[in-house]
Amino acid sequence: MNQQKRLGILTSGGDCPGLNAAIRAVVSHATLTYGWEVLGIPYATQGLLDRKAVALTVHGLDLRGIDPLLSTGGTILGSINRGPTEAHADEIIAGYHALELDALICIGGDGSLALLSKLAKQGGWNVVGIPKTIDNDVAVTDRSIGFDTAVNTLVDALHKLSYTAASHDRVMVVETMGRDAGHLALHAGIAGGADVILIPEIPYTFDGVCQQIEELRERWGHKFALVVVAEGAKTLSGESRQYTDAQGEVRLRGIGDYVSDEICRHTHNAVEARVTVLGHVQRGGIPSAFDRVLASVFGKTAVDLVARESYGRVVVWKNGRAVDVSIDEVCDRSPTCVDPQGCLVQTARGLGIYIGELGIPAVTPLVRTAV
Ligand code: F6P
Repeated sequence: MNQQKRLGILTSGGDCPGLNAAIRAVVSHATLTYGWEVLGIPYATQGLLDRKAVALTVHGLDLRGIDPLLSTGGTILGSINRGPTEAHADEIIAGYHALELDALICIGGDGSLALLSKLAKQGGWNVVGIPKTIDNDVAVTDRSIGFDTAVNTLVDALHKLSYTAASHDRVMVVETMGRDAGHLALHAGIAGGADVILIPEIPYTFDGVCQQIEELRERWGHKFALVVVAEGAKTLSGESRQYTDAQGEVRLRGIGDYVSDEICRHTHNAVEARVTVLGHVQRGGIPSAFDRVLASVFGKTAVDLVARESYGRVVVWKNGRAVDVSIDEVCDRSPTCVDPQGCLVQTARGLGIYIGELGIPAVTPLVRTAV
C-alpha cells in the first residue's frame, strides 16, 4: 500500500493565508514520512491542462524549523478562480495522467471541490481535498484555512477605526467579503465590538440601523458607531449591491457606500459616516497561529489518506479534530450560511448589536460559479 508514489498538489480558487503552510505540511509529511515525490501544479487545474509541474522537495523548500513557507500569505503555486470547467474534464484528467501522478491533493473552496468531485465521478484519478476560504462556507467543516486570519485582519481594522470614529463622533461603515455567507462579518463584528452587523442571511432595515445609532447616542452618550456590513447583505426589501461581470459571474461591490449614504439620508445628515472597504487585504497577510495549525493538520491528514489510498475524500475540522468525509457530502451541502437562530446571532442580539430584523426567513443565496 505504501509503495513509492508521485503526489501532485494544487491550490485552486481565491487565495488566502495558510495555503503555503498546507503545502509545506504535505511536502514535509509525504517526503519525510513516506519517501514520496511531490509535484506542485501551478495555477490549479490550468496547470494540469498545460501539463506543468514543479518538483517540491524538503531541501528545496527548506522545511526544517520556522521557514518562510509556514508564515507567508498567498500560494507559491499560484491560483486561479476562473479556470477550466467541467467542459475541460477529459483534458484535465489527461494532464493528470501525462504527469504520471498517483494522487492529487487539491486545496480549494466549495467551487473548486465541486469541480473535482464531478471529475472524480468520471473516474481515472485519485483526489483528496483540503478546504480553504476566508468565507468559511465550505460545508461540514467547522473551519476552512484562511478564515481565522481574515477575521483577525478585520478585528484589527475595527480596533483602529474605533479611535478615529470616537475622535470625530463618526459612524464607520466597514465592508467585508464573504459572498453570500455572513460568517466573516459576524465573527469580526462580535470580536471587534461592532454596534451593527449586517449579513446576507438576515435582512435589515435602515430604520433598524438608524434607531440603533440614535439609541447609542441618546441612551449611552456613545457618539460614534461601528457598522460591519457583509458584501452580500440585503435589506428587507431585497436591496443589495451586485453586478454581473464580463465573464457572466455575479460579483458583489459597493454595499459599504450604499449603507453609508442611506444612513446619512435617513438621519438627514445628522450623522457623519465614512466607509472602509478592506477588500483583498482580508485575503492577504501572514497566517494566524490557528490557520498555521489547521493548515498543518489538514496537510498531514490528507497525505495519510493518500497513503491509505482513501480517495474522493475531504479533510474537515470537526469538534477540534481532523476527520475525513466524502467530497460529495461536502459539495451537496455547500455553501453553508450563518444560522439566523444560531448561538452567534443570539449572542450578537444579547450584546445589544443590531443584526437585522427578527423572524425573517433567510434570503436565497447568490448563484455561484464553480471553478
Ligand atoms: O471567496 C473568497 C472571496 O474573497 C469572496 O469573499 C469575494 O467575494 C471573492 O472571493 C472575491 O473574488 P476576486 O478575488 O475574484 O475578486
